[in-house]
Amino acid sequence: MINVDITRTKSLVTDKELDLIAPRLAAAHDTLVAGTGAGSDFLGWVRLPDEIDREELARVKKCAEKIKSDSDVLVVIGIGGSYLGARAAIEFIKGNTYNQRTGGCPEVYFAGNNLSTDYLNEIIEIIGDRNFSINVISKSGSTTEPAVAFRLFKNLIEKKYGKEEAKHRIYATTDKCRGALKNLATNEGYETFVVPDNIGGRYSVLTAVGLLTMAVAGIDIDAALLGAKKAMDKLTVTKDFSNPAWTYVGARNVMYEKGKKIEILACFEPKFKYMAEWWKQLYGESEGKDNVGIFPASVEFTADLHSMGQYIQQGERILMETVVSLGKPASDIIVPENPEDFDGLNYLAGKSVDFVNENAYKGTAIAHEDGGVPNMCISLSGSDAESFGYMVYFFEFACGLSGYTLGVNPFDQPGVEAYKKNMFALLGKPGYEELLKEILEK
Ligand code: PA5
Repeated sequence: MINVDITRTKSLVTDKELDLIAPRLAAAHDTLVAGTGAGSDFLGWVRLPDEIDREELARVKKCAEKIKSDSDVLVVIGIGGSYLGARAAIEFIKGNTYNQRTGGCPEVYFAGNNLSTDYLNEIIEIIGDRNFSINVISKSGSTTEPAVAFRLFKNLIEKKYGKEEAKHRIYATTDKCRGALKNLATNEGYETFVVPDNIGGRYSVLTAVGLLTMAVAGIDIDAALLGAKKAMDKLTVTKDFSNPAWTYVGARNVMYEKGKKIEILACFEPKFKYMAEWWKQLYGESEGKDNVGIFPASVEFTADLHSMGQYIQQGERILMETVVSLGKPASDIIVPENPEDFDGLNYLAGKSVDFVNENAYKGTAIAHEDGGVPNMCISLSGSDAESFGYMVYFFEFACGLSGYTLGVNPFDQPGVEAYKKNMFALLGKPGYEELLKEILEK
């Protein structure tokens, strides 16, 4: 279901280079699959398609049906790994305009992923006097952004429905037994789901973290899990370059070692935008540590060919590019004939818009390679739920493999704490008085 073509990296990634990196990939593969490396407490995602809690999955589906029956809007509160996957899934599978054409499912809005007053006010205005529910997701239960948003929307929902009904409209996904959100949910009697102890936020989209929101948006979550299972069955057992994860990881690490420090993930479909955001978190948090790591960036083509295209073509030569191709559109749109040919486009009349897009891609790939930006192409078989699940697993497995190949722990994120501590000190959180003094002296 995934093919990785590295033909356009051959100036840097020769067969000899791949042979040289293969033993490191094999060692990283064994470490990952056997669970013997750094961060091995967080490998629950590796066998998740087989080991998912079926009782919880049934509850996820039941709650999704209830939300669909009693809500016009679902507010999903979370940040980072607690929201990006679900947002990516909805846009990838249902399109960027899901909220304008929900097919009878609730509109879905994401809050708690920033601290913007204007943004929160917009969501409150969008809800208006319509019926809504809240899905709050936080593994720690204490992350500031979602905690602030949850206080706000909790007040709103309790004011609208009263405390008793409100508690049947609030769904909490959090730690199995610890944290402020877990305690609140237990005390108030919310329906709760678990972020498994052994799965980090950025690897959690195929748990209740992502699945409840996806199901509310009418996505077939069984198909997504089936896609992930198919990927698991192939990628965990194939230890050579017929494994697309090996090809991707091998090529990107050879290029990194030759000075390509930034990987741009590109797609010629706008529906991929949040998949790219999810991918950036996955790779940025997993690999960027110990003063190493490929910097993950993303562009949306063809739009960004008219903005970032100049830099990519001729700026500093530290870039590699990975283009994700999604296969054929659901139905074609044909460029119409015009008798006056007022815009000189009649040479395209009768051709599909997708044909134009495909050739834009081919032209871009050649131009970027000629300009010193080697590019890989990851082809997916489609943009349905099963392809989504397959792709998620592919990128997760490749990320673990790549992190171990690079020599880092791909499952921790110690650097994320630095800004939080400073922010807590500046906000006057008890316990941060000494740090505040240090900050004020700087
Ligand atoms: O991948 C991660 O672990 C992070 O991005 C977290 O998901 C993010 O910081 C949110 O944390 P929490 O779910 O504890 O609120």
